[in-house]
Amino acid sequence: MAKLIDGKAVSARIKEEVRQETAAFMEKYGIQPSLAVVIVGNDPASRVYVNNKKKACELMGFKSIEYALPEDTTQEELIALVKKMNVDPAINGILVQLPVPKHINDMAIIKSINPKKDVDAFHPENVGRIMVGEYKFLPCTPAGAIELLDSTGVDVAGKNCVVIGRSNIVGKPMAMLLLHRNGTVTICHSRTKDLTAITREADILVAAVGKPNFVTGDMVKEGAVVIDVGINRLENGKLCGDVNFAEVEPKASFITPVPGGVGPMTIAMLMRNTLTAAKIQNGIKD
Ligand code: GUN
Repeated sequence: MAKLIDGKAVSARIKEEVRQETAAFMEKYGIQPSLAVVIVGNDPASRVYVNNKKKACELMGFKSIEYALPEDTTQEELIALVKKMNVDPAINGILVQLPVPKHINDMAIIKSINPKKDVDAFHPENVGRIMVGEYKFLPCTPAGAIELLDSTGVDVAGKNCVVIGRSNIVGKPMAMLLLHRNGTVTICHSRTKDLTAITREADILVAAVGKPNFVTGDMVKEGAVVIDVGINRLENGKLCGDVNFAEVEPKASFITPVPGGVGPMTIAMLMRNTLTAAKIQNGIKD
């Protein structure tokens, strides 16, 4: 029987820390941190995420600014908006909700964001900073997954860590964060040969594949810590992770549920990054 890692509780603790730090920051410096979120088009999942981000900002005491742009917004128009926000001192964090419509190149948008306001940490400058260990922001989902790992008290140093998935948003930065903690890290992907032989060696297994119930019981070592980053919507409307929970839970020592695991952590880390951005832009070190 695995111990459940309670993402809702850890997320609530971090948000409370950020809320209190924000109150103290505003009292001391008279500055209200602000986050601008841009949504292009009508993707219903993106709308839910953006609403949740706005709600969290309000809870933190941040100013929340939303730009809801029509589906036919051009790349040039979107970049023009980002450039305006880049130099607006009243905006500390800029987040363009992904995915953007197909006619817009997401990397061109990410590159147009001022790295100091890039609270997603997707800009190549911030990605490079993570590689060399000199970063101010970490991407929210892998940072949240690491917080959950920390909450177990398990020491990553020397452990076999296997990350399934190599996306720029989760898999690659997750591997780097585990490496920073002295894990021995393997990244697996769709071309990996004999995936099961590799995952069965994992003391810490991170699933970021985007396929429901992809990780089955036979792929997991007895006593492994299993972090499920997947959020998949099934045909019946239910949410389900990348890990087959019923099969894996009896073998794992710790496991994140879906929902209620990594999902709630992403917003908590975004709130932390926004407060950090406000501090950096105002030259405040503490
Ligand atoms: N879409 C899904 N997750 C994210 C995220 O973390 N940041 C942005 N900008 N878009 C997303």
